[in-house]
Amino acid sequence: MLADKRIAVIGTGTMGRTIAGGLLASGKVRKAHLVATARSRTSADKASRELGIRCASDNAAATAGADVVLLCVKPRDAGKVAEGLRSSSGRDTGRSSSRSRRASARYLEEALAGKAPVVRAMPNTPCLIGKGMTVLSKGSKATDRDVALAREIFLPLGGSSSSRRSTWTR
Ligand SMILES: NC(=O)c1ccc[n+]([C@@H]2O[C@H](COP(=O)([O-])OP(=O)(O)OC[C@H]3O[C@@H](n4cnc5c(N)ncnc54)[C@H](OP(=O)(O)O)[C@@H]3O)[C@@H](O)[C@H]2O)c1
Repeated sequence: MLADKRIAVIGTGTMGRTIAGGLLASGKVRKAHLVATARSRTSADKASRELGIRCASDNAAATAGADVVLLCVKPRDAGKVAEGLRSSSGRDTGRSSSRSRRASARYLEEALAGKAPVVRAMPNTPCLIGKGMTVLSKGSKATDRDVALAREIFLPLGGSSSSRRSTWTR
């Protein structure tokens, strides 16, 4: 399911780079299908060098044409980034996955004005070494297929579980 998806990673700090690196290492995502951003040019250049993918600081350009948008910013920045994406695109922004603890799926759905299904993802620190666990929470507009896609995205970091079913899988 991941192979044909174009993915934009918004925020390439510790977790954004870990997720992007995991996707590339899994072999399921081609470098040409992965694009990323950071707020500063310095961070963008660092991520670009480390991952070998396009990384800039223009979120609107990065998400144009993306099937999946991964918001990997700090919780305090998540709402502002989501609102920026909504106003810059004026259309369906694709599936969004939040990694923010305080930014709930509902909060992001509202920030995106209901234009995109949201799956909230909460990985733990061992994900940094591929031995973590990610809890996934389905937003009101997300389908089981969206959750399955999110599972695939976080699989390289360890395992995942759906918070509604409370079943942990690897
Ligand atoms: N780090 C961990 O071990 C860990 C473990 C589990 C969960 N988490 C969670 O993961 C989330 C992210 O944490 P993190 O450690 O990855 O944070 P981080 O290292 O501070 O990275 C945040 C990234 O967001 C970018 N950013 C901020 N505003 C932006 C904007 N408007 N547009 C584009 N990019 C923007 C920053 O760019 P600049 O660098 O240019 O400012 C930076 O690349 C948090 O919710 C945290 O709780 C982290």
